Amino acid sequence: MSLTESPTGNAPPAGWHPGSWRSFPALQQPQYDDPDALELVLGRLGRLPPLVTSWEIEELRSGLAQAVRGQAFLLQAGDCCESMDDCETAAIVRNLKVLIQFSFVLIHGSMKRVIRVGRMAGQYAKPRSAATETRNGVSLPVYRGDNVNRSGFTEGDRRPDPQLLLRGYEQAALKLNFVRSLIGGGFADLHHPENWDLDFPTGSRRAEEYRRMVHSITRSMQFMEAVLGSQFRESHGVTVYTSHEGLHLGYEQALTRPVPRRSGIYNLGTHMPWIGVRTCDPGGAHVEYFRGIANPVGLKVGPDMEPQRLVELARRLNPDNQPGRLTLIHRLGHQRVRDLLPPLVEAVRQAGLAVIWSCDPMHGNTVNAREGRKTRHFEQILEELLAAFDVHNELGTVLGGVHLELTGDNVTECVGGSTQLGEPDLTRAYKSPVDPRLNYDQAMELAFLIAERMQRPNVG
Ligand code: PEP
Ligand code: CO
Repeated sequence: MSLTESPTGNAPPAGWHPGSWRSFPALQQPQYDDPDALELVLGRLGRLPPLVTSWEIEELRSGLAQAVRGQAFLLQAGDCCESMDDCETAAIVRNLKVLIQFSFVLIHGSMKRVIRVGRMAGQYAKPRSAATETRNGVSLPVYRGDNVNRSGFTEGDRRPDPQLLLRGYEQAALKLNFVRSLIGGGFADLHHPENWDLDFPTGSRRAEEYRRMVHSITRSMQFMEAVLGSQFRESHGVTVYTSHEGLHLGYEQALTRPVPRRSGIYNLGTHMPWIGVRTCDPGGAHVEYFRGIANPVGLKVGPDMEPQRLVELARRLNPDNQPGRLTLIHRLGHQRVRDLLPPLVEAVRQAGLAVIWSCDPMHGNTVNAREGRKTRHFEQILEELLAAFDVHNELGTVLGGVHLELTGDNVTECVGGSTQLGEPDLTRAYKSPVDPRLNYDQAMELAFLIAERMQRPNVG
């Protein structure tokens, strides 16, 4: 197979169309009481304008092609599950800020281009392990994300409501509009570091380190501008792409469209959708839908994935072996990553497949805290990440990215880190309706630790 780059987007494979998934078994789809009401909403969604464009998607794909070769690094991060209540100015700014600051720390440490992809503007549908939830002897349908039902524990809250799909689309559009304006208006302009100054507690070691880094970036930029005799323009600043799990296939289909002057058919609801571990059956509806869209796509790889099955999936999702088309996001757990990752990487390498390997150190490390809430330990998250760097280093391949659940907010959902959050803190500011996220301090701490690892000369 040749490594071809496709600047125009490929025509979909024979037999595929945006609705061909309907003839395959589709897991994790909500059961609506009124299928006609759902079809009306999907029809309406299909006529609404796209949220992203094919040229942005193609630009992301060519950036990701560099990550395959280790010349760029993918930072994919954001909420586990966006909440419509959090669609507020301050929360959007904080989340954008932590993503940008995280990326600056990585760039500074690695001297590589960092491709920022938010779990954002569409991350509203959640896969669940059980169909129902029981509290005090009462069982109700499980919460499946804000574009399906509501997290409150009443029958009404948990009834899937197709109108929520329209609200999810609208909220994604509102968020994207604000994010685009902030970035276009110079929020991340390197000439104004005060906009992205750190909110670390003053006096902390990392705050000092961050300030030194900002100073060094500003000085380097002034040096380059003096050499070039001109200013870097804002358009040379920051780009942020969007991603979400492509779970609700009716919604995804409604936003999947042909575009003028390109042969591919694009999901125009997000730049980079991914397939979760619960819906990655090669014979299932999700893989059928994903194999035909022209976007770069992610595939979560869990501990049950066998190497040959991964190769089969990768071939199905990327038959032309285009670099940048497929990101394999492994989430194996800190205890198993050293055993499970090498055979997966070996099999993909032997098959000659061009992929980006990205480490999600969150989803294999979820545990129940004493009072029943889900949490994750900072040290275990870090351990899985460092192990992933080591495994790739030992095999001579590259870890091309990380996939994280984090927020710019000061929540208390994950424990550990330099602020030493403990289990008793979890009751204080636990806001995520699904998985625990790193808070601002934990996220920045992790950014510095990853940057340090990326700076270390590889051995072996
Ligand atoms: C997620 O990314 O929120 C998720 C559910 O991941 P996974 O499919 O890896 O469990
Ligand atoms: Co999650």
